[in-house]
Amino acid sequence: MSSEEEYPNRLAPVFAQYPMDVVDAEGVWLHTSDGRKILDLYGGHAVAALGYKHPGWTRAITKQAMECNFQSNAVPMAVRVRAAANLVRFAGDYFDSVFFVNSGAEANENALRMAFRVTRRTGVVAIEGSFHGRTAAAGAVTWGAAQKWYEFPRMPFAASFIPRGKIDAIPVKIDRNTAAVIVEPVQGVGGAYDMGAKFLEALRKRCNEVGAMLIFDEVQIGMGRSGWPFAANLYTLMPDMLTTAKALGNGFPCGALLMSPHVTNALKVEGLGTTFGGGPMACAAIEATIAAIETENLMDNVRRVSEYLRETCTVGPVGGHQGRGFLHGLRMVRPAKDIQQELLKRDILVGTSADPFVLRLLPPYILKEEHVDILRDALKDL
Ligand SMILES: Cc1ncc(COP(=O)(O)O)c(C=O)c1O
Repeated sequence: MSSEEEYPNRLAPVFAQYPMDVVDAEGVWLHTSDGRKILDLYGGHAVAALGYKHPGWTRAITKQAMECNFQSNAVPMAVRVRAAANLVRFAGDYFDSVFFVNSGAEANENALRMAFRVTRRTGVVAIEGSFHGRTAAAGAVTWGAAQKWYEFPRMPFAASFIPRGKIDAIPVKIDRNTAAVIVEPVQGVGGAYDMGAKFLEALRKRCNEVGAMLIFDEVQIGMGRSGWPFAANLYTLMPDMLTTAKALGNGFPCGALLMSPHVTNALKVEGLGTTFGGGPMACAAIEATIAAIETENLMDNVRRVSEYLRETCTVGPVGGHQGRGFLHGLRMVRPAKDIQQELLKRDILVGTSADPFVLRLLPPYILKEEHVDILRDALKDL
């Protein structure tokens, strides 16, 4: 009997549902109640970085659950200190403090708060096509939120948007009233769109000129997905703050705000706060995720297999490729939604994006060439 027959569905009807019911998973495979084995090229919205049933990660959170499942941030715990130190080291030792939160939106909310605190200015500049989350401040810098779902009666601050890649607009929009510029170095929801070195460098340069804080939102592209720890490392371009979430805990809910020394200097006791952020279970998950990415050379794997995707998957309805690493966009010659449905009928799960012609692949970092071959063969038939 499926859970639907046993229980009435009381879930808020806000998510379109895929026609599948997952009861188990292993590696890059999802197992459904009706016995299907589905290749997961979507990784639960970029979360399942290590795939499913990863032994090291499972052991780490089990051990932490048995030792101590929760204590607040006011109670020192070694696992929290280790997680922060590992994250700073993983990011290249440029940042010097980490504030742990529960989600990507919450990380961005706090990054914006810190930018206002440091600069004492009022404006924020974001990029067209961006997605930064559903909370009041993160939603205010999300492209199109006001028209689609924002609903709060007013914006908490003045936000303006620069068209993607339009370097000329940078000095016009970013000035001495700008507290922060927030950018996804590779846009996720916007359609796996790589901003590229020149555009990001121009943002960094302008922020330096006017004293605005540059925030990289690496909630989706961060934590090894680009093939580097963060896109900031890939572009050797450090923002004043960096936010990350999704893959950070491999499915254990968590997010983080990484701050450079001049932002850390503006912190004071009780200036930021959270109950669950930095909980020991989340920190054990973060530590185990970083350890697995490093010891299993998963960033090398991401770089190699994403290149293989580009080389082999320009077949059937695929017109081109975009994005970076395992935030991979397949540009289609037909509507992406139709192709997504066709692939799911062939037991391959992929995502769509705000661009109706881009399919988004966000697979676990353990994906291999043999899995890409399965996708290629299915695409050939469409
Ligand atoms: C780039 C980016 N920032 C922020 C968020 C919001 O993260 P969360 O859903 O964890 O609040 C998302 C979620 O998709 C995202 O892709």
